[in-house]
Amino acid sequence: MGRILNERTSALKIVVVGTGFVGLPHAAVLAEQGHEVWACDIDPARITAYQSGDAAQIERYVNEPGLAASVAESLGRHLFFSTDLAAAAPGAEVFFMCINTPPNRDGSTDLSYYRSAAETLAGILAGRADGRRVVVVNKSTVPIGTARLLEQILEGAGCRGVGVASNPEFLAQGNAIDGSRRPDRVVVGADREPDFELLRRVYPQFQHHVRIRYLETTPETAESIKYVGNTLLLTYISFWNGVGARISEALPNVRMEDLKLGVTADSRISTWGSYVSNGAGGSCFGKDIQSLIYQLNMTGQSTDLLQAVFNINEYQKTYLIDRAVHEAGFGFNQTTVALLGLAFKKRTNDMRDSAALKAVESLLGRGVRAIRAYDPLAMDEARQRWFNPDQNHLFERISYHDSAEEAMEGADAIFISTDWEEFRGLAPLIRAYAKPPCLVIDGRRMIADYPELTAAGYGYLPVGGPYLPPTQPA
Ligand SMILES: NC(=O)c1ccc[n+]([C@@H]2O[C@H](COP(=O)([O-])OP(=O)(O)OC[C@H]3O[C@@H](n4cnc5c(N)ncnc54)[C@H](O)[C@@H]3O)[C@@H](O)[C@H]2O)c1
Repeated sequence: MGRILNERTSALKIVVVGTGFVGLPHAAVLAEQGHEVWACDIDPARITAYQSGDAAQIERYVNEPGLAASVAESLGRHLFFSTDLAAAAPGAEVFFMCINTPPNRDGSTDLSYYRSAAETLAGILAGRADGRRVVVVNKSTVPIGTARLLEQILEGAGCRGVGVASNPEFLAQGNAIDGSRRPDRVVVGADREPDFELLRRVYPQFQHHVRIRYLETTPETAESIKYVGNTLLLTYISFWNGVGARISEALPNVRMEDLKLGVTADSRISTWGSYVSNGAGGSCFGKDIQSLIYQLNMTGQSTDLLQAVFNINEYQKTYLIDRAVHEAGFGFNQTTVALLGLAFKKRTNDMRDSAALKAVESLLGRGVRAIRAYDPLAMDEARQRWFNPDQNHLFERISYHDSAEEAMEGADAIFISTDWEEFRGLAPLIRAYAKPPCLVIDGRRMIADYPELTAAGYGYLPVGGPYLPPTQPA
């Protein structure tokens, strides 16, 4: 990736606060552009890993295609890591807040981490000696109106000449680096021209671009764009799971793939989200729709549609297990289940809100004897989540495996939960490693060659299709 800025004229010193799935790719891509980027985090182990420049260490925290190489390329030249925000701040003109904003139990957003980081930064900026204008920019997904809260925190600390802006992040995990290099839009919400101008200097490559929409608006509109965008995407997913899949499962001879092709040929209808699955996970969709429901409820607005979208998505995460009981007559009690795919989607090690978490809960609740778990990238995270039997003694029933083949050995049922490419065309391996009448539950429609399985005595239960019993007795 060539550096595009002339360092004497255009490059800025930028501080990124929070270096998780959003902050680290953002910092790496800003550094690629030639800015001097300081990426700060309160987690010293994370910062040490990033400072090493070693791919394996970086990927333990954020595993994204191209990320480790981008970090290594800029490290010590354009990209610096620190736990010391106060030491990184002098001379910086733009501060990006990339702090986690998890959900509270009632669906509202827990702003405690964000607020703590904002207060620390406000204290530092209040004490700075130079009078140069700086801007603090929210990249975190935060409730509509949080830019005003930030303004109050900064003013309360006595900051002068510090603007605020909202610049929501739209990256999709698994594609964070490419998505940051070539976003479809950049949205900047601010009140004052100098703050817009600083952001234009951050993103000169996206100005007047033929394909990238660079939108300048109010902070509240920018904050709303993030929520409306994410909830619309989840609406597409829930529509296909709640309508398309149901039709193909219930009515004989309705073919899911053809249904999808026929409907999405209409140029007014999105093809995105027209796949069916065992529900959408990840740290954003569920959290953001719950937060928007909460925010709208607070203003007395109806949220029926959003609530239905959320409920359909949650239901979908365990509904194939219920179907296995009711349609295939599979009793999970005292059985061994191979769980293939733990990350919430392919090409990430992130298990936040993953469908596999709900599946494990449901399977343990149904009395399975053993869950044999495998994921190409998420095994470390899985062990961290489930290794502690003090949390739930039933977690002792989960074992961790190095390959799909190993996980499938001796399984009574196989549950494909993530759309990893290596699970496509798994039929020959299933035949080699799991004995019929093993039930194959396909939460991602990965096995196109399922007739090979049913002919060999396996049951096949896909999302978006009816249960297919073995055609040959086992
Ligand atoms: N993950 C995504 O795909 C995605 C996409 C778009 C937007 N977002 C939003 O971006 C924000 C960040 O998400 P994420 O997935 O990167 O979260 P994350 O949990 O992966 O990273 C957050 C980081 O902030 C650090 N942190 C917390 N308090 C801090 C402080 N006081 N000072 C410095 N660092 C601090 C944490 O140690 C952690 O490394 C959230 O609001 C999220 O909703 C996430």
